[in-house]
Amino acid sequence: MKIRAAVLEKIGAAAPYAQSLPLRVQEVELDPPGPGEVLVRIRAAGLCHSDLSVINGSRPRPTPMVLGHESAGEVVEVANDVRDLRPGDRVVLVFVPSCGGCVPCAEGRPALCEPGAVSNTAGTLLSGERRLHIGETRLNHHTGVSCFAEYAVVSRRSCVKLEADISFAEAALFGCAVLTGVGAVINTARVQAGSTVAVLGLGGVGLNALLAAVASGAREIVAIDLNEDKLALARELGATMTVNASDEGAATAIRTATHGGVDYAFEMAGSIKAMELAYLITRRGGTTITAGLPSPEHKFSFSPVSLVGEERTLRGSYIGSSVPVRDIARYVDLYQRGKLPVNRLMGEQIGLADINAGFDRLATGHSLRDVVVF
Ligand SMILES: NC(=O)c1ccc[n+]([C@@H]2O[C@H](COP(=O)([O-])OP(=O)(O)OC[C@H]3O[C@@H](n4cnc5c(N)ncnc54)[C@H](O)[C@@H]3O)[C@@H](O)[C@H]2O)c1
Ligand SMILES: [Zn+2]
Ligand SMILES: [Zn+2]
Repeated sequence: MKIRAAVLEKIGAAAPYAQSLPLRVQEVELDPPGPGEVLVRIRAAGLCHSDLSVINGSRPRPTPMVLGHESAGEVVEVANDVRDLRPGDRVVLVFVPSCGGCVPCAEGRPALCEPGAVSNTAGTLLSGERRLHIGETRLNHHTGVSCFAEYAVVSRRSCVKLEADISFAEAALFGCAVLTGVGAVINTARVQAGSTVAVLGLGGVGLNALLAAVASGAREIVAIDLNEDKLALARELGATMTVNASDEGAATAIRTATHGGVDYAFEMAGSIKAMELAYLITRRGGTTITAGLPSPEHKFSFSPVSLVGEERTLRGSYIGSSVPVRDIARYVDLYQRGKLPVNRLMGEQIGLADINAGFDRLATGHSLRDVVVF
């Protein structure tokens, strides 16, 4: 079938993107689903910094590629062998398909699915196939999702059925920002009530970590960003202290206020500077967690003696160490009960034609989670 999709032809276009137009909204061909696959009508797709990192080259992926990895939509058609989804079902798409059979999947760590990582890096679906093309030119899939498009063919294993009655725009956020930010707090760190937390970088991911820290009963929550509007929002959402990362004395002020640092510092900015600050403000015996995805060329250094002498922990968190089938339903439930007000992080709802300008706004650090609605 012919669909409209936002195609990234090559990486590294100069900003502003509203002028250089790295994403070309054009007509592309979408082949029908193969075995184990599903055709989804995309209804909402969020703009995440990880998309921006593909556009600007910090997260290299094969091109041409139909971008987008955070979305919700409606099942239109399923392959014969897919028996647990039907046309009309609503789904949230997850940006790592989990095969269910590899060692990480068997260990309950589907975020680390090995075939999922291979197909995501190659730009294919979990099957190894590409279903998108323009004439003879095959287009790559973005993390098996490619949701900046009217329709997507995805693996069944990229879909989580959505039972709750929430809007598609709300549901889309659960596919990346919520899974990643909330999961980092609940699954990766297992923050306990009464502990102290810092969140560095208050985008879609970091603000979700903040909400999860509030929901988990953290006693003190330090929110850190470069942007004063984000800090003001963080205070409304439950931060007990806000700090502008550009302040000279930021680290000292936080260490003083928290009596030597926080139990858990979450780096959610994707920046080495934020990572360094996160490590500095983690207390003796504390844990520094990062969900940021800076360019692979950027390095972070620390002194191993602090790791040892202070019994520190440094951890990465991918998709919030989530089990998406379990966690999306849980987080949606918390949202509906008012305990995780993720709607407060929603930015503008835009059309596919305005997607490049949306990425300009994201690059400034000012926008909240903008969502393309179809
Ligand atoms: N681990 C995962 O599974 C996963 C999933 C999604 C996104 N990510 C990554 O998480 C990061 C955040 O994504 P997002 O979509 O929320 O981004 P975003 O652009 O919406 O937000 C980033 C925020 O960090 C702030 N910031 C920038 N430099 C800072 C600094 N030095 N100190 C403090 N704050 C700073 C910006 O002002 C902005 O508010 C990105 O690196 C993204 O690629 C990881
Ligand atoms: Zn994302
Ligand atoms: Zn697997």
